[in-house]
Amino acid sequence: MQAVLIGFMGCGKTTVGRALATELRTEHADLDELIVAEAGRPITTIFADSGEATFRRLERETLRQTLARTGVLSTGGGTAVSAANAELLAASRVPVIWLTASDQTTLARVQNDAQRPLVNQLDVEGLLALKHQRAPRYEQAADLVVATDQRTPVQIVSQIAQWL
Ligand code: S3P
Repeated sequence: MQAVLIGFMGCGKTTVGRALATELRTEHADLDELIVAEAGRPITTIFADSGEATFRRLERETLRQTLARTGVLSTGGGTAVSAANAELLAASRVPVIWLTASDQTTLARVQNDAQRPLVNQLDVEGLLALKHQRAPRYEQAADLVVATDQRTPVQIVSQIAQWL
């Protein structure tokens, strides 16, 4: 991979990842989409039928395989959180970019999204607590931090492309 995007749900990893890959004239991979394709069922069903631990195992294996490919990788909101995944990211030496968003922006982007099991499970306080709890992990894994509030994908991509 040439770049990996990490960050909490709703920070724009997929949107920015696609646009960054286009800018860099390379492939885009979305970890959640790869997991869904491999499992043959949506993330909500994996969580509901097999539990979060099964999802995390699939996520780690898919991350390990995908880091070896070329292109831009958009991860899931929990990917960079576990120590094992943080080690995979560090060992890959791929630039890791943390996309941030304010609490308000995050809620506006993810509330009422039925495709995200953690959004379904948690209330607003729980979701924001998870966001704040994860922030130090994202920070530790990141080589670059990019704010996304009130900025367009084009502006965000141009900042990342210049830094790369
Ligand atoms: C998760 C975020 C989701 C997806 C899964 C778990 C998380 O990805 O991987 O629902 O733990 O934050 P997005 O950040 O793309 O919503």
